[in-house]
Amino acid sequence: MTGNIHGRLNRCLDGTVKLEKLLFMDLAPAIFNSVAAVVVIVTTLPPVLALPMLLVVPIGIAIVFRQISTQRGIRVELLDTKAAMDGSIVELLNGIEVIRIIDSVALEQERFDRKSEFLRAKEMRHHVQMAKYDCLKFLNEAVFTVLMIGVSAYLATQNVISTGAVLTSYLCFNQLLKPLEELHRILDELSESMVLAEDYFRLAEIPCDFSFLPLEAAPSASTAEPETAVELHHLSFAYHSDKVILHDLDLSIPHGMFLGIAGPSGCGKSSLIKAVCKLENYTGTIRIGGRDLRQFSRKELANTIALVPQNPFLIAGTIYENVCYGLERQPPEQEVYAAIDKACLREFVDSLPDTIHTVLAEGGANLSGGQKQRIAIARIFLRKPDILILDEATSALDNTSERLIQSAIEQLMKETGMTVLSIAHRLTTLKNADRIIVMDGGRIVQSGTYEELIEQDGIFSDMYHGKLK
Ligand SMILES: Nc1ncnc2c1ncn2[C@@H]1O[C@H](COP(=O)(O)OP(=O)(O)OP(=O)(O)O)[C@@H](O)[C@H]1O
Ligand SMILES: [Mg+2]
Repeated sequence: MTGNIHGRLNRCLDGTVKLEKLLFMDLAPAIFNSVAAVVVIVTTLPPVLALPMLLVVPIGIAIVFRQISTQRGIRVELLDTKAAMDGSIVELLNGIEVIRIIDSVALEQERFDRKSEFLRAKEMRHHVQMAKYDCLKFLNEAVFTVLMIGVSAYLATQNVISTGAVLTSYLCFNQLLKPLEELHRILDELSESMVLAEDYFRLAEIPCDFSFLPLEAAPSASTAEPETAVELHHLSFAYHSDKVILHDLDLSIPHGMFLGIAGPSGCGKSSLIKAVCKLENYTGTIRIGGRDLRQFSRKELANTIALVPQNPFLIAGTIYENVCYGLERQPPEQEVYAAIDKACLREFVDSLPDTIHTVLAEGGANLSGGQKQRIAIARIFLRKPDILILDEATSALDNTSERLIQSAIEQLMKETGMTVLSIAHRLTTLKNADRIIVMDGGRIVQSGTYEELIEQDGIFSDMYHGKLK
């Protein structure tokens, strides 16, 4: 859950910084002070007094280690519970409108109360146990103080040590107790910070984005056809090994082609796009412009492929910043306005108080679904990619806007030779496609032009005639 990761990262980073501070700024002086106190005691006091006095240190340390070992598990549970609560809060905030419409406030409150109660009970147990260990530490020090005063007074009455030595030994013992108390605190805090630091390293191990792994070396001779923009060869893909999503796909998409991708929901269209954009690992071969996708760095891919998803990513910035998102250069306003024109967004932008400099809410929350999509589409006209992938990118647009944007994209194809892969449920979106592939159950089951596929018996004509969604 997003909130879970966010909360964990914050706490882990705080814990790791605290761990470093404790190790270098607190622990070293405390150990030095303890050693100095021990040396003073051993050299100035008679062994009969010094040796029993020093026993306070191993007993105190043993209590702390026992405390640490018994509290470790509960500290991990507390951390996990807090992370789960962070996750729930962000989840609830994202779904606030649905929660209000369904009126599930009481239900959500009950769910959250259960987690809070679990956390409260765990915290209470933890603090009660911590208090018990603090009592033990205090008793250890108090018993040794009384013992030390009693023994030294007795030795003074027996003339084994001088009367002044009683005061000296009390002062020395106090000098030993102070760093010992510091050590108690530091060791306990160290253990708490260690739990957080370990979680930090656990988090750091999670990212397994294979596209950032060292790139595979290029083979000496490429077998790809030079005119191929995208080529799939025995491509298979699974999110989890027990369920294959794409089965042994073979496909060749020439440069400049407009390829439509249709098929029922869940058949693997978006998964195919994720593989082509190197977002998920796969078996088989994908070649982009004749080159193996595994040899592409993320930067090279960003310069080659542009993806417009159904739910575009918008930042809490101005319309200008959103349209230019990801570009290295800062295009002049006229160029951005031209892109906005082609994306049929000009009228809307002109109606805003600060036009192109109007600041959008996080995720474009103050825009309609179609306006968000049009901002994402405007990016294409600035980026002019070699390969454009549209995944239901115009699904929220009215027919007229979709047609206008479609012809602007086709114009761009003519100007730049751009290749387009377009996924659409609304089949008319694919009417002008050079070729349409129809997928079902992770396989390509039909291929042809719009007119050919309507004539053929199969999924496409079923979808066209409304027999299949
Ligand atoms: N991140 C994921 N982890 C595990 N399984 C997933 C994940 N994303 C999708 N799937 C599964 O993979 C299958 C194909 O999903 P995909 O999103 O590719 O379908 P789609 O054809 O794009 O559907 P739609 O038309 O509804 O967008 C589905 O069964 C889906 O449940
Ligand atoms: Mg999809």
